[in-house]
Amino acid sequence: MSDKKYIIVTGGAGYIGSHTVLALRNNGYHPIIVDDFRNANKDVIERLESLLDEEVIYFSAACQEEPRLRGIFSQFPIHGVIHFAAYKAVGESVEKPLMYFDNNFGSLISMLELIKEFNVKHFVFSSSCTVYGDPKQIPVDENSPVSYNSPYGFTKKVNEEMIEQFIESVSEIKAISLRYFNPIGAHESGKIGEEPDGIPNNLLPFITQTAIGKREELTIFGDDYDTPDGTCIRDYIHVADLAEAHVAALNYLADANDRTTVVNVGTGKGTSVMEMVNYFQEETGVDLNYRIGNRREGDIPSIYANTSKANNLLNWEAKRSIREAISSSWKFEQFIKEFRK
Ligand code: UFG
Repeated sequence: MSDKKYIIVTGGAGYIGSHTVLALRNNGYHPIIVDDFRNANKDVIERLESLLDEEVIYFSAACQEEPRLRGIFSQFPIHGVIHFAAYKAVGESVEKPLMYFDNNFGSLISMLELIKEFNVKHFVFSSSCTVYGDPKQIPVDENSPVSYNSPYGFTKKVNEEMIEQFIESVSEIKAISLRYFNPIGAHESGKIGEEPDGIPNNLLPFITQTAIGKREELTIFGDDYDTPDGTCIRDYIHVADLAEAHVAALNYLADANDRTTVVNVGTGKGTSVMEMVNYFQEETGVDLNYRIGNRREGDIPSIYANTSKANNLLNWEAKRSIREAISSSWKFEQFIKEFRK
């Protein structure tokens, strides 16, 4: 039997998934991408191959296509699964809750069935700080109360609980849910990054697309919040740091005493929207066209992570600065403009 540590990465062609594939490979793991490319471009694979200078193993399949996935699980001895594949837009989930339930619950159920059937011992799940809703106290730690304010948030919260109950019913499988804060940034090469379909929901892609001329202006959603400059505060984490947290999570699971756990993955530092805009202008020298608009429905004033558990349990901490994240995103925006010509 091969002693290679094969890791199935669902959604491995997506934004966080593709960076995690690089981090896994750079740390001795052998990622296998399972992605149906409904929300990612196939050319991500070629770009990953050029960065890694080797072929990438990938299968074009959806998580709910169990017979196809069974073929993949029987072809390789699988050490672990990292399950990214899911819908993730808060606003869209409010309009199409059933689509979110079908995909986000259905995909997880398939993956749990498969890891049980093939005796895969390690499972890493993409959760979100959205499970904290609008927190009463910040920073939030893993014991802070959980709630939800969208169908998307509901799926993440229930998914975490589904994993816990599933783990009780089996022996030997260990799982971890990583609660991501706000991922930003791109690979240092500028060749892999976030390429949203249509109008970006998230702040930094909107900023870079405005700066490059794809969007007219950025609207800052409200400057009358109860924060020092009136704009919302988030914990922006470099996607390369977030990717490395997945490697740390797999390493942790191999020797973990607890069979399920949840861990915040953030920087522990809050940054306001206005600060982000200023950092972007300072880093890139581009004058950003922006205006202050109304609040966006559903936005919370402020959240950032207590990261002690990630530091102690996973032996991981965010290393890259917010400015590095911003300049790598800008590099990627310029790269992808040329690439798509
Ligand atoms: N913002 C703007 N203008 C924009 C886009 C965003 O001012 O055009 C502001 C938002 O109001 C917010 C901040 O920038 O204050 C960050 O917004 P994002 O949309 O980038 O991120 P969110 O914190 O709203 O959402 C993220 C994830 C969700 C997750 C949520 C959990 O994208 O998947 O965190 O809180 F559910």
